[in-house]
Amino acid sequence: MGGELVMLFSVEPKTTRRDLYDREVELDELRNSVLRGGDKLIAVYGIRRIGKTSLVRAFLSDLLQPYVLVDVRQIYFIDGNVNVGNLVRHILNGFREFIERGERLWESLKDALRGISWVRVGAGGIEVRLTRRSRIDLAGLFNAIDEWCWRNSTRFILVFDEAQYMRFSNVRYDGVLAWAYDNLSNITFIVTGSEVGVLRDFLRIDDPEAPLYGRYIREIYVDRFSREVSLDFLRRGFTELGINVNVGELDEVYDKLDGIVGWLTLYGYLRGGIDKLSTGRPWTRYSVMVLSW
Ligand SMILES: Nc1ncnc2c1ncn2[C@@H]1O[C@H](COP(=O)(O)OP(=O)(O)OP(=O)(O)O)[C@@H](O)[C@H]1O
Ligand SMILES: [Mg+2]
Repeated sequence: MGGELVMLFSVEPKTTRRDLYDREVELDELRNSVLRGGDKLIAVYGIRRIGKTSLVRAFLSDLLQPYVLVDVRQIYFIDGNVNVGNLVRHILNGFREFIERGERLWESLKDALRGISWVRVGAGGIEVRLTRRSRIDLAGLFNAIDEWCWRNSTRFILVFDEAQYMRFSNVRYDGVLAWAYDNLSNITFIVTGSEVGVLRDFLRIDDPEAPLYGRYIREIYVDRFSREVSLDFLRRGFTELGINVNVGELDEVYDKLDGIVGWLTLYGYLRGGIDKLSTGRPWTRYSVMVLSW
């Protein structure tokens, strides 16, 4: 990981601050909100391909605090629903990253979870183990994490990327979040969403009947790059590849793609022939998307 060279036009979400272009304002907002404000619930909104996942991952990579990011959209598409068992399995899987972050942290986290009856803590990892009498209890898991944070004077950041998919579940997660908001002081939840309306509908922030009603949610919007920033982004990416691209072309790209960093990245990726550099990567899915603009 660490030392690997990531190009500006690489198509995976960026995962470190170093690889992320700009987004200083949004990173500051996240830092202030989580570290200084101790906010409990943060919503990151932005249309498809605008760079939400990259922003949040880059933010997390700089943290000293422990965190887990769960890709809820992936759970939905792979498992067909976001039932509590699926969600919990992915959260526990996310704990694996702690092994890389240090022995002490990992050991103390395992200790903290040993008390939960439906969790099995083994040498290799942490798993769900259900018996006929136990059932998965999300609140119990969050409580254990919260207490562990309290003992270690830290804060845990739990990210639900594309959280609007949490509505496809046997559990009312907005209720769980409201409960966590009221009862846990050491966990910050970050939810992201591509469709502002759908995420807001899921959280039902403005609905007096809804569990989260009246709770403060910090809302962060990830926006398109301006023309100037987009052109600079493209120029830098092409410089990195040693390719000369004339201004006319860059202007046209901006006019077509409208400052959406994911599309700019993809343009650079294909135009720069990166797909041909990296062997055997399937890229047809992306080329189809590009051909359709
Ligand atoms: N600030 C940035 N600097 C460089 N590349 C970026 C930046 N933000 C996003 N990208 C690139 O743009 C593409 C889309 O980014 P990302 O997956 O983070 O967006 P997203 O909003 O989460 O998309 P989706 O809605 O599809 O989940 C990726 O190729 C990523 O590498
Ligand atoms: Mg994303």
